[in-house]
Amino acid sequence: MPVAKGSRKSLGDLLASRLIPARFLAAQLRRPSGRFGRWVLARGLNDGNAELIDALFEALRLGPGERFLDVGFGGGRALLVASEQTRGALFGADFSPDMVARGHRVFSHLCASGRLNLVTADVVDLPFRDGLVDVVGTTNTIYFWPNLDAALLELHRVLVPGGRIAFGYTGREKMTRFDNITRHGFRCFEPPDLEAPLEGAGFVDVETRALTGRDTQGDYVTMARRSD
Ligand SMILES: C[S@@+](CC[C@H](N)C(=O)[O-])C[C@H]1O[C@@H](n2cnc3c(N)ncnc32)[C@H](O)[C@@H]1O
Repeated sequence: MPVAKGSRKSLGDLLASRLIPARFLAAQLRRPSGRFGRWVLARGLNDGNAELIDALFEALRLGPGERFLDVGFGGGRALLVASEQTRGALFGADFSPDMVARGHRVFSHLCASGRLNLVTADVVDLPFRDGLVDVVGTTNTIYFWPNLDAALLELHRVLVPGGRIAFGYTGREKMTRFDNITRHGFRCFEPPDLEAPLEGAGFVDVETRALTGRDTQGDYVTMARRSD
């Protein structure tokens, strides 16, 4: 799948654009759809979230045979990275039918070989059996989950005992730069707002890394483990 940078609009360009109505952009970030979602936003997400996604995998350190689930995969960059790091089965769930259809197209080789299974589903109700995967990753999605506690319980269910989970997100303070967009229904987080619910859902070894890159200051990766 092509993820290289080119003449495309970066996510920063999109967020800063005054030409795109903020309410429309907020709705698209929550659930990309139509031509804008498929052709503009999905690519912008892949480019704009690349550093955060790389940081998430650096923290997760996928083993060569581990099974991986990406929730809210959007443009699919994290699935591409995962496919290079593990030979294990890959799963993607996204509640945008357009992102799932696009995923089937760009990852047709992986889907056809049975290595990747993409489903249209809400994080609170995943069509996967208990203990299906060793690792769950999700980036820039939690702002849109209306019931975080229910989502964490569902992710706990699909993880194997001892399995790992990681969340990549932009902190509330940095998000204030994009107030014009985030005021349309985003829930913003600082690490304790995620760490405490993770412990409440039965996860252990909860820990957060603050990213320090030029563009990633104010972003976080929070990790946890399902107890054995
Ligand atoms: C801002 S995009 C992030 C995409 C990708 N993870 C990335 O970092 O580039 C948010 C994605 O999460 C999906 N999403 C939002 N809420 C969801 C939910 N409740 N269940 C499943 N997917 C969800 C959206 O459809 C969208 O594709």
